[in-house]
Amino acid sequence: MSRNNITVGLFGFGCVGQGLFSVLENSIGFKPEIKKICVKHKEKERNLADKYFTFNKYEILDDPEINVIVELTDDFEAAFEIVKEALERGKAVVTANKKMVSEYFEEILLLQEKYKIPFLYEAACCASIPVIRNFEEYYDNDTLYSFHGIMNGTTNFILTEMRNTGKPFKTALESAQKNGYAESNPTHDIEGYDSKYKLCILLTHAFGLTVKPDKVLNFGIQKINDFDIRFANEKKGKIKLIARAHRLKSGGIAVFVMPQLIFENNELFTVDGVDNGIVTENFFADKNIFIGKGAGAIPTAAAVLSDLSALSYDYKYEYKKKMQLSNSFINNDFFVNVYVRFNERNEAGIHQFEEVYEEYYSTDQNYITGKIRFNKLIRSEWINKESVNVILINDKIY
Ligand SMILES: NC(=O)c1ccc[n+]([C@@H]2O[C@H](COP(=O)([O-])OP(=O)(O)OC[C@H]3O[C@@H](n4cnc5c(N)ncnc54)[C@H](OP(=O)(O)O)[C@@H]3O)[C@@H](O)[C@H]2O)c1
Repeated sequence: MSRNNITVGLFGFGCVGQGLFSVLENSIGFKPEIKKICVKHKEKERNLADKYFTFNKYEILDDPEINVIVELTDDFEAAFEIVKEALERGKAVVTANKKMVSEYFEEILLLQEKYKIPFLYEAACCASIPVIRNFEEYYDNDTLYSFHGIMNGTTNFILTEMRNTGKPFKTALESAQKNGYAESNPTHDIEGYDSKYKLCILLTHAFGLTVKPDKVLNFGIQKINDFDIRFANEKKGKIKLIARAHRLKSGGIAVFVMPQLIFENNELFTVDGVDNGIVTENFFADKNIFIGKGAGAIPTAAAVLSDLSALSYDYKYEYKKKMQLSNSFINNDFFVNVYVRFNERNEAGIHQFEEVYEEYYSTDQNYITGKIRFNKLIRSEWINKESVNVILINDKIY
């Protein structure tokens, strides 16, 4: 495929789809032609001529002039059908749909192997941060020891608002919605699912491990209250929602999404608002830090354009770590240090801790901090109680 013969069929003309038009208008280099756009709702007003639009996916999929599909819908099941049919027809695909890629990863890997057609999704992981291609190419011959990061802009915005303005969670969430950073149904973001989809995709490129999202634990930020924020402030820390994958000395990989207290010496301490950041630790390259816009029409579309450009030199993922590290597996048997806040004195299962560092009881709320086996923590009957909140208090996974 060369730069001059890429003709795009676009699915979805929402935030990112429209962002792609803007990016193409302003691109100083590559400007592939978008021939047709498939959308869902006939009654919606569009800011482009009617001739561009269709509601019938086969007008794009069966058009022999269209050789690249850009999938930017918000429906992961419909998106997978589009991807499958595109690859079957020999059309390369670029997508930003993290839920679709992570939920159907095994199927998509098989389709790529069968049809040998490129399928790229840089925009699906932290939008403008070029993390997938770096995992694939730059760390090609290096072994990642761990990576962790703030992979969701909405939760980072909410936590920043709570800390800087003293707003309670609900008001900070409303601010995120007013600013267009959170959807009207924010569950996927605040409960950590969105971060988990990205984590699952990166796991494949970093450790050769492909797992369904429901096999990975996600604790969100929905239970964080002003008591937790005060605790963080007193410790001179900030609470961030961190997605993490960490190679364990005992074998396997610790993988989870959880709020964590981080301090000034942590590279992500100053990553506030809607920004995202990822820290990698590698055997040879040591530590690397990626920071940037993890969402938004233009930054996400910029990653889509970068993938389109990569197609023009026949780039495809080789999933090198999948070949090099075929024995990767998730291991939940390790220790973490946590803060647990609770209402009733015996609510938090203090006897399940290996070591208790701090105990605090008041008429308002109570907390303990200590060392606990992750396996025990996630299986405890108290962790899911509305009145109990858990936050990691440092990076130690051991
Ligand atoms: N927004 C971001 O900052 C961001 C960042 C990274 C990744 N992403 C990912 O990018 C994708 C698009 O996000 P978005 O924010 O642009 O979504 P959006 O604003 O909600 O737009 C979704 C678009 O998809 C269309 N659509 C839905 N179902 C369809 C179907 N079955 N066939 C054809 N078109 C369909 C909708 O059509 P109508 O216009 O007719 O409703 C709409 O144009 C999602 O997978 C999202 O996770 C978004």
